[in-house]
Amino acid sequence: MRWSIINFGTAILASLPTVFAADSAVWQDSETGFTFSQYAAAYAIGKSLTFRIAVPSTATSSAAYDAVLQISAPLEVGWTGLAWGGTMVTNPLTVAWANGNSAVATVRWATGHVTPNIYSGAQIQVLRTGTHTNGTHWQVTLKCTGCTSFTGSSGKVTILNPNGANRLAFAYSRTKPSNPSSSSSSFGVHEVTNYWSHDFSSAGNANFAALVTKNS
Ligand code: HEM
Ligand SMILES: *[C@@H]1O[C@H](CO)[C@@H](O)[C@H](O)[C@H]1NC(C)=O
Repeated sequence: MRWSIINFGTAILASLPTVFAADSAVWQDSETGFTFSQYAAAYAIGKSLTFRIAVPSTATSSAAYDAVLQISAPLEVGWTGLAWGGTMVTNPLTVAWANGNSAVATVRWATGHVTPNIYSGAQIQVLRTGTHTNGTHWQVTLKCTGCTSFTGSSGKVTILNPNGANRLAFAYSRTKPSNPSSSSSSFGVHEVTNYWSHDFSSAGNANFAALVTKNS
């Protein structure tokens, strides 16, 4: 599959036809002002969820950094989650769903292929601007502190590379959480999961902190 080609880096990416570059396309969000690197994850034939990531342009691989995540989902999506370490187990899982005209998000942590627990190592701030529902989609824009770095079961610390590609994963369920207004709601298992390589090097924002404040 073409996904593996992305791992060779931007030098090769730049020489590929635009159909390949589109997998890690840059998205300028006029509503919030963030520059995002985005990926459209197919959850059914002809249907996709869009995951957009913005990071501070000053971020390095040697220190923890915040990220802004924007998810745009068709209304039929009951919940969706982003696995920052590219697997279900032992990494922050940012899970979000629609709640009326707004959205709710939470970070969970799985120690196996069972219902993940609430993860206290990360904090979410849902941004007012960029979080809404219309006739076809719900969208959430959030800042996460603690999603881009985490400590695995062996004690190994992982910091996602802000200047390159990272393997991410998502999960999709058509069924809404049982108590959508609560970020600690339980939810059922997904119907679809998949992985991709997400380019963080095009997700840098020089005015990251100011944009978070402006959109809060
Ligand atoms: C009620 C909650 C959940 C249950 C019961 C559950 C259960 C499972 C099970 C049984 C599998 C293995 C499927 C197989 O091998 O065919 C799996 C895989 C997977 N799940 Fe979950 N899951 C839950 C929530 C989540 C969440 C919130 C995410 C967030 C992104 C997630 C991401 C994944 C991914 C990426 C896989 C693929 C295999 C892997 O990376 O380990 N899951 N899950
Ligand atoms: C509805 O919201 C989605 C996600 O924010 C957006 O992509 C789409 O353009 C919106 N549709 C209309 C008609 O505004």
